[in-house]
Amino acid sequence: MPGVKKTAPSPQPALILSALLLGGAAIAFLGAFIFASQPRGAPSSAINAELYAATVATALAEASPAAGEKLIAEYACSACHLAGEGRIAPLFPGIADRAADRRPPLSAEQYLYESIVQPGAFLVPGYAGAMPINYANRLSPFEIGHIIAHLLSLKSG
Ligand code: HEC
Repeated sequence: MPGVKKTAPSPQPALILSALLLGGAAIAFLGAFIFASQPRGAPSSAINAELYAATVATALAEASPAAGEKLIAEYACSACHLAGEGRIAPLFPGIADRAADRRPPLSAEQYLYESIVQPGAFLVPGYAGAMPINYANRLSPFEIGHIIAHLLSLKSG
């Protein structure tokens, strides 16, 4: 009987719906991917002269080079920044002069601040990124100010 061979309800609406859903998901995923790959804000290696300016100026206002020297000893910075065999970090003597030209437009004090709170932002050529990255948590901005004041007193010649 021809009437028996009734075709099953067409599966097409369901197919179309799932295709639409899949397509939508694909577009959403692509969109999220494109959005995520856009540079948002400053990448960590950006030069943040303006960002540092106020912090550094405030931290330096009351800074004491003598207190900075004590902190450098207390935090064993010289474990790496010390003259001798197998030295793994740049020396501090003369750093006041070098810091001024290391990373324009950062001033010497802004560069020193960045070197301490975000050492990975710029690597001194010839050295590996071995400096601990957690000083920003261990030292207050004022303690960092003391350290910068001490480093700024270490001029060459
Ligand atoms: C585990 C080793 C290590 C310790 C500890 C360490 N540093 Fe460093 N530091 C480095 C290395 C390696 C570099 C060079 C690579 C770079 O630019 O990050 C560096 C770079 C620097 C620079 C930039 C020097 C330049 O000539 O431009 C400053 C400033 C600095 N460190 C300050 C400090 C201070 C202050 C402390 C202690 C609170 C400290 N470091 C502790 C390894 C260390």
